[in-house]
Parts: sequence; C-alpha cells; structure tokens
Amino acid sequence: MRKQIAAANWKMNCTFQQGEKLLCEILDADIKLADHQLTIFAVPYPYLLMTRSEVEEEWNYVAAAQNCHHKKAGAYTGEVSAEMLHSMNINYCIVGHSERREYNQETNAMLAAKVDLCFENYITPIFCCGEPLAIREAGTQNHFVAAQLKESLFHLPAEKIKQLVIAYEPIWAIGTGKTASTEQAQEMHRFLRSVIAAQYGEAIADEIPILYGGSVKANNAKEIFGCPDVDGGLVGGASLVGADFIEIIKALK
Ligand code: PGA
Repeated sequence: MRKQIAAANWKMNCTFQQGEKLLCEILDADIKLADHQLTIFAVPYPYLLMTRSEVEEEWNYVAAAQNCHHKKAGAYTGEVSAEMLHSMNINYCIVGHSERREYNQETNAMLAAKVDLCFENYITPIFCCGEPLAIREAGTQNHFVAAQLKESLFHLPAEKIKQLVIAYEPIWAIGTGKTASTEQAQEMHRFLRSVIAAQYGEAIADEIPILYGGSVKANNAKEIFGCPDVDGGLVGGASLVGADFIEIIKALK
C-alpha cells in the first residue's frame, strides 16, 4: 500500500518554545499511525534536534528539514548541506518548495542537484512542484508541472525515484485560503502519476506518494485526502494550530 502522509511545513514560524509546545500538543493526542501512514514535521533548522528527540519514541512520526543546499559543502555561509542533515539523523527534506523557487531563485537544475545530494545522504526528498496562477489561467499547467518533474527528477534511476515523495502545490492555493477543488487536485495528481508512469512504468508510478499542498485545513483534509491519487498533504498554516493538525493527521487514509 502506498504511504499516506501528513506533512507539517512550519516555514519561518514559531519561536523555539512555541514549537516545542505545538509538538507536545500534537503528540499528546496520541494518534496511532498505521504502518503505511506517516506524519512529518518540517521545522526550522535550529529545531531539528529538539523535534527529532520529541518524536523519537513515536511510531511513524519524523522530523524533516525544509531545505538543503545544492552544493555538497564549502564556502556557503549560512547554508546547510544534506550531509549535515544526515549526520543529525534527519531522513526527510523538502526540496523545491514554491517559496524557495520564487524568493531564492531555485531552478529545476539546482533542484536536481539537491535531490541527488539527498539520496547520497539517505534522505528522502519531498519534491514540490506546482504552477502559478497565470499558468493555470492559460491552461498550460500540465505542461509546466511535467517539465518540473522531467528536469529535476527524470535523471534518477528507477530504484531511487520510487523512494521519493512528491508534493503538488498549486501556487495560487498556498496561504491564500483557496484550495484546488477535489476534481482539480485529483486530475493533476493522476496526470503526475501518468507522467512518471510514461518514464518509469505503472508499477513505480503507483508506489510514489503524491501529497497535495495549498490551504489544506482541518475541515477539508478528509475530502481532499479521499481522492484516489492524493496520498495526504503538505500543510502550512493549519500545521501551526495543534487542534487543526491533529484533525489533519486523523484524516489520513
Ligand atoms: P498553506 O501552505 O497550507 O499555508 O497553504 C502549504 C505549503 O506551502 O506547504
């Protein structure tokens, strides 16, 4: 069975103390995850060790980084490498979030390098893709998103790509309170799976969890996660409210 994932993306929010409190509130709800379910907390770098130790005893709760650098090591002040994350026992990392693509000029080629460095360091990349509003309005979203996959992922061998997690984030739905309709989400997730299938075959495409991101809330998670090709969510705003994220975890299939 394909993994079903609730991934919190705290972005640049929460003080250390607020973060600890939020984690405790969520873990205290004591939601037991099945083997195929996973909850991920993508927290700011300085909170990674605290988060890792909070979730240590919990089955299928893990800490993740929100980014890593596209170079192995060297004179890049302020940056964090995949190797550093691995050395701290961090096994998941978001790669290519739309905010980083936009504010940090991350290109598909840079993201291909990040994905490789993650794999070299035993880190599962949560690879983000998704189209801006203008592309959606022009009706060329399929072409746009397929190019993101091809340029950043399709150099990978089959045994690597099947370990990946993909997050589809329509940029027009992030932090805006607008969600894609379940039809729009399902349609795009199905399309992404078909693009992977064309390159790597159906069996591999079927194994890859594809998360939906973009204003997932406590009151819409169940409906969105209910789509056959949606395997959970990458959640920003609602992951900062304990009670809401608890409901989102419970909405996993
Ligand atoms: P949002 O963010 O849930 O606040 O829309 C989603 C994301 O960017 O991961």
